[in-house]
Order: sequence, then structure tokens, then C-alpha cells
Amino acid sequence: MMVAALASMALAASTAKTSTSTASMPAVERIYVSSENVASEESMHGLYERWYALYRRDGDPSDKEKRFSIFKEEARAVYELNEGGAHVKHHLNLFADMTQDEYAKSFANCSPLEIRPDGNIKLNLHQPSQYYPDKLPLTVDWRTVDGVLTSVKRQGKCGSCWAIAAAEAMESIHFIKNNKRTNLSVQELVDCTPGNKGCNGGVAYKAFQYVIDKHGIHSSEQYPYVGNGSHCTTPSGPPVMSIKRYHYVRRRNEKMLMDAVSHAPVVVTLSGLNTTEFKRYSGGIFRGPCNNKGDHQALLVGYGTLPSDDANAPGVKYWVVKNSWGKSWGERGYMRIERGHEAYGGICNIMMWRAWYPIHPK
Ligand SMILES: *[C@@H]1O[C@H](CO)[C@@H](O)[C@H](O)[C@H]1NC(C)=O
Ligand SMILES: *[C@@H]1O[C@H](CO)[C@@H](O)[C@H](O)[C@H]1NC(C)=O
Ligand SMILES: *[C@@H]1O[C@H](CO)[C@@H](O)[C@H](O)[C@H]1NC(C)=O
Repeated sequence: MMVAALASMALAASTAKTSTSTASMPAVERIYVSSENVASEESMHGLYERWYALYRRDGDPSDKEKRFSIFKEEARAVYELNEGGAHVKHHLNLFADMTQDEYAKSFANCSPLEIRPDGNIKLNLHQPSQYYPDKLPLTVDWRTVDGVLTSVKRQGKCGSCWAIAAAEAMESIHFIKNNKRTNLSVQELVDCTPGNKGCNGGVAYKAFQYVIDKHGIHSSEQYPYVGNGSHCTTPSGPPVMSIKRYHYVRRRNEKMLMDAVSHAPVVVTLSGLNTTEFKRYSGGIFRGPCNNKGDHQALLVGYGTLPSDDANAPGVKYWVVKNSWGKSWGERGYMRIERGHEAYGGICNIMMWRAWYPIHPK
């Protein structure tokens, strides 16, 4: 009964097209690069000022001129990419003044492998629904179901992707089961989850375990995000929700992962994100490359297939991922990434590791 109710919600989600949902979202300012922009040092500097005002308002001013050279290189590269006929128009996102290595260290290394294996956790395997494997919805997109997803977050330079993905998975299931909108405290998870390393990275299932052990998690109002590691404190007031268990989805099983996300968003691990293509992703279906360094966690919120007459990628299957790098990255903070390649663990290893989701008490 419960399964049927949830599945019908996902089916409802599947009837609305992605384009409808993104069109209704507020526009995000994007900084593109024109031939005038790259024409001279002066015009390039003007572009930098515009970009800086949008992305580095609270940046370190002593760093500003030093970083101009990195920015110029990126602006030229993005310009040439677009001139060269890229399918998607690239823009200058939050990483435009960062070297590849700086990006990789601060943003693409937030769920390091060495802290992921854990022999002591209680294992609950995802049980396939009645729709598995042949009657799965063709499309699932939780963005189209009002209330399930909170707005896209910005982790900043704190390696909190795992905490954000865990909090968002709990926010989603709380709404799906209880119809309550909440912003849960990412900072509480960063500061308090045992076995993780706070802003130096972690894994979502340990955050779920923390919430179970503590009988709940507070809201982001009670315990606000500061974007660095601080001491674990107990805020006043009761926690706003709890979970009773968490389940994992087996590795390298595309249909099982589709089945799981048709019920609620699921935390996935992506790896090999230290590529310029991933750093610059501005939209469309990401088809790689990824490499084998740089591990990250994010929230899987759906899947679909492009129409067979699509001009760029006919019939290509994709996942929809909610990332934590703000709304300027990707498709308003989300990414569509090619689905398939199950035997190899998927593009950017999306099926290479277990995926996790929380179970609501209700
Ligand atoms: C990221 O990739 C760049 C370019 O290949 C490399 O120089 C750098 O060392 C890498 N950094 C990390 C942290 O993997
Ligand atoms: C959650 O946070 C967002 C962004 O700060 C805010 O717009 C929204 O109203 C918050 N939702 C609730 C239920 O507090
Ligand atoms: C963490 O961030 C807060 C708010 O921005 C700041 O007040 C505090 O000094 C920071 N702590 C550390 C250790 O950087």
C-alpha cells in the first residue's frame, strides 16, 4: 500500500516534463564570454569585475589581482569552447578564478574513499518494488513535485557535500511522508557525525546513523550553516524530524537505482570529478570525461531518456543529480549525467558505490 502510494507520486512526477519545471524556476544570472570581452586586457578586466561582483563579493581583496590571470585563461578557454560549436553554451561559473587543482582539493574531494568502507554498519538492502524491473516509470523528476526538494545549497569551501546530500534526502522523505517542509541542519551533521571528518569530507550513511542515534536532527535555523568545522553543540529546542533506518542500493544495478529513486531521492557517490569538463559543466547531458580522482556525494533526484529526435544526444538516458555548488553551476545547480554503462559503474562512477536513502518513521 505504502509502496503503491509512493510509486503513484513518482508516476505523477514523471508526467511533468523537465522543461516545464526548469522554466518555472527563477532565472540565475550567468556570465557569458563574448568576442568583445576577450578583445583586450581592459575588456577582460571589465568582465572580471562583473564576475567578481557576482561570485566573490566576500572574497579576499588581496587575492583579486593575482587571480585575474587564472580568470583570463578560463574566460578564453570558455570563449573558444563556445566558438568551437559546443552543444551547450558554457558560462563562467563559481570556479572561474580557481586552478584545476584548487577546485579539485576544495570541491571534488569531499567523500574520500578511505573513510567510506565501514564494517560495523547495519546493512539494510533496498527491496525492489512491485514495479521492478519492467514497470518502472519512464521518467522520474522530483523537481517537478512541489515541496520535495529544498533550494540548491552552496557548500562553500567546506567539504560538506555528504552532509548536504544526507540532509536533503531526509528533507525529501520528511515531505513525502509527512508533508512538512524543513531545512535541516547541515552544520549539525558536519560538526557532530562520528566517523566523518567534518569539512574534510564524509559519507552520508554515517550522518543517517548519527540522526538515528540522536533521535533526530535540528533545523538549519536552530543550528545554522557556517561552512567550516566547529564544535558539536546541542541547540535548544527539540529536533525537527528523525529517521528510523537507512537502506542501501546495490552497486552496478541501474534498474535497482531507478526503482529506489522512484520512491524518494537517494544519496549517490560520484568520482573522478577532477576534469575541466566537470568543473565547467554548464548544462546538457554530461557524458564525461571523469577520471579516477576526486570523490563527491550528491542527491540523485530522477532519471529520464532524451527523445529519439534530439539534435545532440538522441535517445540518451540520463540521471538527474542535485549538487551542492550553488545555482550557478550546471543546470541551476542540478546536473543531468548519462545513465548506463552499468558494468563499469556508470559515468563518473555513479553506480560504482552503494547509494543510500533514509527511512522515515511514518
Ligand atoms: C587535478 O587535476 C590537475 C590537472 O590534471 C592536476 O594537476 C592536479 O594535481 C589534480 N588535483 C587533484 C587534487 O587531484
Ligand atoms: C528553507 O531555506 C530557503 C532558503 O534559505 C528558504 O527560502 C525557505 O523558506 C526555507 N524553508 C523553510 C520551510 O524554512
Ligand atoms: C567559521 O565561520 C564563522 C562564520 O563565518 C566564523 O565566524 C568563524 O570564525 C569560522 N571559524 C573558523 C575556525 O574558521
